[in-house]
Amino acid sequence: MPLRPARMEDQAAIITLLAQSFETTAEASLVEAINRGGYDPVSIVHESDGAVDGYCLMSQMRSPADCLGLGPIAVAESQRKGGLGAQMVREAINRAVSNGWRAIFVLGDPAYYGRFGFSVARAARFETPYPKDYFQILELEDGAADTLATKVLYAEAFDALT
Ligand SMILES: CC(C)(COP(=O)(O)OP(=O)(O)OC[C@H]1O[C@@H](n2cnc3c(N)ncnc32)[C@H](O)[C@@H]1OP(=O)(O)O)[C@@H](O)C(=O)NCCC(=O)NCCS
Repeated sequence: MPLRPARMEDQAAIITLLAQSFETTAEASLVEAINRGGYDPVSIVHESDGAVDGYCLMSQMRSPADCLGLGPIAVAESQRKGGLGAQMVREAINRAVSNGWRAIFVLGDPAYYGRFGFSVARAARFETPYPKDYFQILELEDGAADTLATKVLYAEAFDALT
């Protein structure tokens, strides 16, 4: 399935997809704010018949350094449970590895993200306002979870969500 980096002209379709996929417009507003901030290191879309039906964002954390935050992720309802979400997450992880990022954090259901190697246990020492049972790390550098700064701060655009 064709995945590609998101482009400026995808913006409206991405916002619509996010607004349809989540209960509130918080995620759509977040992505607008991230793009306004001009920092968008890994942003992937999937297209079918010219329409964006999958989106996955990873944004640079303010802390720890050289780490990414995964999410939001959305797949159009008609396309769900076909592996597209997993394909986008794996592609995002591969790109993060290629670009030398040290770790990826995610806030989400461990039953889903565990399959990609994310771990609640390894994230236990990080200081976060988020629920500990859902806060996870994927280490891209050996032992990163033991050596990274413990303060967790997502990109500024996320401040409006907490
Ligand atoms: C989460 C989402 C991106 C998954 O996309 P997808 O293409 O259906 O994903 P996959 O086909 O790779 O995986 C499907 C699996 O994800 C599970 N799943 C779907 N939404 C989930 C959620 N919010 N939390 C945990 N697991 C979820 C499904 O039950 C299914 O599980 P199984 O493999 O054990 O049967 C999609 O369901 C979606 O857009 N949901 C609405 C937005 C959202 O909640 N995003 C995630 C939070 S950022």
